[in-house]
Order: sequence, then structure tokens, then C-alpha cells
Amino acid sequence: TTTATDFKVADLSLAAFGRKEITLAEHEMPGLMSLRKEYADAQPLAGARITGSLHMTVQTAVLIETLVALGARVRWASCNIFSTQDHAAAAIAVGPEGTPDNPQGVPVFAWKGETLEEYWWCTEQALTWPDAATGGPNMILDDGGDATLLVHKGVEFEKAGAVPATTDEDSEEYGYILALLRRTLSATPQKWTQLASEIRGVTEETTTGVHRLYEMQQEGTLLFPAINVNDAVTKSKFDNKYGCRHSLIDGINRATDVLIGGKVAVVCGYGDVGKGCAESLRGQGARVIITEIDPICALQAAMDGYQVATLDDVVETADIFVTTTGNRDIIMASDMQRMKHQAIVGNIGHFDNEIDMAGLAKIPGIVKEEVKPQVHTWTFPDGKALIVLSEGRLLNLGNATGHPSFVMSNSFTDQTLAQIELFTKPEEYPIGVYVLPKHLDEKVARLHLDALGVKLTTLRPEQAAYIGVKVEGPYKPDHYRY
Ligand code: NAI
Repeated sequence: TTTATDFKVADLSLAAFGRKEITLAEHEMPGLMSLRKEYADAQPLAGARITGSLHMTVQTAVLIETLVALGARVRWASCNIFSTQDHAAAAIAVGPEGTPDNPQGVPVFAWKGETLEEYWWCTEQALTWPDAATGGPNMILDDGGDATLLVHKGVEFEKAGAVPATTDEDSEEYGYILALLRRTLSATPQKWTQLASEIRGVTEETTTGVHRLYEMQQEGTLLFPAINVNDAVTKSKFDNKYGCRHSLIDGINRATDVLIGGKVAVVCGYGDVGKGCAESLRGQGARVIITEIDPICALQAAMDGYQVATLDDVVETADIFVTTTGNRDIIMASDMQRMKHQAIVGNIGHFDNEIDMAGLAKIPGIVKEEVKPQVHTWTFPDGKALIVLSEGRLLNLGNATGHPSFVMSNSFTDQTLAQIELFTKPEEYPIGVYVLPKHLDEKVARLHLDALGVKLTTLRPEQAAYIGVKVEGPYKPDHYRY
């Protein structure tokens, strides 16, 4: 264990509660726990300084302590202002051996309800390693790409020798990033360049962050190799789908407790997340309508038995709206003006630009009232009100506790194996974006079978030869889609 002299969490006295939930979660995370056993002696992450930017939940606590058990030192921030579970953050700061009076855990900078300015400060703290020669990490574990973005922007402006002035076009959030980088540029002019020079790579958790990485690769601006963890089969086909199938309605229920059965629910986007969301709403008896731009996903939705329509056609009659696209401007203020009284509006995609919250706030005479944290009514001048969840940020983490442990065990076992790959085999990964090799993907699935009582059939050698695979796998070609 490292001795944490620096951290910032909401309330250290929550650590004992956090520790109890971490202990329960460990049992539900067989993938991570078996990596702890497998690598106890080898310590493949010894020497790794990992900066993590990922929702600071109970499940993430088990990931952090797995990385430490494999030899890494870790600093952490959450990747969303509402997603931290304060008891999990406290338990991580205190550590299994420490007490609230004598915290001995991992430096963590995260609390539920950060301001955007605090959020970027936390990200900077997680990236700042006081005792490292470069002042920074040598590995990043990212979710949505904000830690990676800060390093890349920092290097870009240091090269240019100046941080551009903030303009009216810039979002409030980008304004904070620019202000932060202006401060570092004047205090430590080579901070980000120096720090980036020693980063062996980043492992990225989610669709949206992966999208940013491929963009940087194409532009030629990517500074270090990256593993796209999202597109491991055991990640996106499980976490995005079955995770959201669980946590979407958990968020809606905790926020509103409205009966979902019989209601009309619109799910915008029928990718992995949309498929899970649609299934969970249908499971509760809602009549689900899908919107899509991709003919393949639209056809899938239709064949799965959903009505596929445009938002325009159904916006006045539906009761619940969920955006899952990872795209911007999906539900605009003009759409919300047409919705029914007490329609529920929420987003489960990574960023808060799917729902036009800024446009909603600008409607003359509109009144926003807090019902409870992360649940607001927006009342129009004519008396009609909408219920908006988590201010348009991902509602499963803002209104509930995100995905449950078992599914996150898959994602985080992928993350841990990806960290080991990039940290221990830098020569095999020149700058670029990679997915986990398939044998590791299959390994992650295999580690989760026993807990569910799954008995796998063993391929006979002549069968293996007939379909052209090895008895021990991999069983599918890389282009297979599952
Ligand atoms: P995906 O790419 O599989 O699905 C997105 C779908 O939205 C695509 O099928 C696309 O065609 C569709 N789409 C794009 N623009 C649209 C528009 N204007 N109208 C209707 N549909 C549109 O991506 P995935 O994996 O489903 O992820 C979606 C988002 O959710 C990403 O931002 C991702 O980072 C995030 N995510 C959130 C999680 C959570 O726990 N809240 C978990 C996993 C992913």
C-alpha cells in the first residue's frame, strides 16, 4: 500500500461502509480476483504509475485494488461529476489497512457533485505525481478520454507556446480546461510534454473515448499507444448491453419511481447501449420505440419487435425518453417544448451533449426546480413540466450506482489485462490504437463461467481441425461479430 498524503473525497467516515460493499463486490468480480491470484508472484505492474479517470464506484475500487495487488501505484479521479460513490472513494483513500484518522490508501480525487472546475482540478491531481521524475504517470486508464485529452491539449499548447484565448463559442467546460492549461503553462512550461514522454500507453473504457482516440490517430496527433478496451467482446457486448439493461431502469426507478409498465418509452440509438436499454424497458412492460440513423441497427430493432420511428413523430405522445447515441443534439429544446406533461427525459450516453440542456435553460419563463439531487422539474410558462434526470448527464451513474459488479468484472478484467499488455510489452505496441488479442477476450469470459454454473463443451481435436481452430481457442476469426 502507498501512503496517501494527498487525496480529496467527501467524507472519510464513510470508509467502513465502503469497505463492506467492496468486500461484497469482490465475490461478484471473479475475473479480477482470479487475476490477483494468478499474478500474485509475477507482479507484472511493478513500476507502473497508473493514473485512472473512471467513475469512482465500488466496482472501480475493486479494480484499483487489483492494480495495486499486481504491483502498480495508482492515482485516481472520477470521469463524471455525478458518478462517484462517496463511500467507495473514502474506502479507497483510507485503504484496507488504514483508518479515517490514518489513511493509507490510494490518492483519489473524487466526490459526488463536483463542479466542472473541480472536476478538471481532480483530473489534474490524478495526473500529477509529486515524486516521479517526469511529474506524471507512465500509464493512463481512461473512461471517455478526459485524462488523455488533458495531456494532449497540454502538449499541443506547450508546442505552440501559448494557450488560445477563450471565445464565446467555447463551452463553459472547455473554458475551465483552457484556464487550467494557462496556469500550468506559466508555472511549469514543459509539464505536459515532459509527462507525456514517459507514458507507455492508455487503455480506454468506452465507445466515446475510443472514438476520440481513432480521431487523434487519423490526425497523427496521438502521443502514445492505446488499447481500445471497449471493443473487447467481453466489454461492449456485456457492459454496454447487459450493464445498461440493469442500470437504466435502476436510475429511472430511483429518480422517479414511476410505473414503467404500459408507458411509451423512446430509446434514441440502437447500438450496444440502446439494445440493453430497450430490453430493460420492454421487460418492465413499456411499449418501446427506437430512433436510429443506421439502417442496419434500425432493421435489427424492427426484427427485435420494436417500432422504429423518428423523434419528431413520437415526441408528443411518449412518456419516457432515453438517449444512447454518443452523438450530439439528439433531443433539442424545441423537442422538449412539445413533450407531454411530466415526460421523463434522460441520457445514458457518455457526454451531456445529447440533450440540449443549454437550450432548455434559455426558454423564456422556464423554471427549474430540484426535486432531489440529480432530479429536476423544468416547468414551462404554460404550466407543463418535464422531469430531467442528472441534468442530462449519464443517468445510470447519476441517479443510481451504475452497472453491477459481475458485469464490471468483465470490463475491468479486460482493463487490467490491457494495462499489463501495454506496460510489459511496449515493443509490440508502436503508437496506434489496438484491441485486446482474442485469446485474452476469451480468457475473460472463461473466468466468469464457473460463478454462473456454466459447463462448457470441450472441442474434440477432429472437430477443431474441421472448423480450423485450436482446441484451446481462439474460436472465432477477428472479424466475427457475436
Ligand atoms: P454504438 O455506436 O454501439 O451505438 C450508438 C448508436 O446510436 C449507433 O447505432 C448509431 O447509429 C446511433 N445514432 C447515432 N446518431 C443518432 C441519432 N442522431 N439518432 C438516433 N440514433 C443515432 O455505441 P454504444 O456502445 O451503444 O455507446 C453509446 C454511448 O453510451 C457512448 O457515448 C458510450 O460511451 C456510452 N456508454 C455509456 C455507458 C453507461 O454506463 N452509461 C456504458 C457504455 C457505453
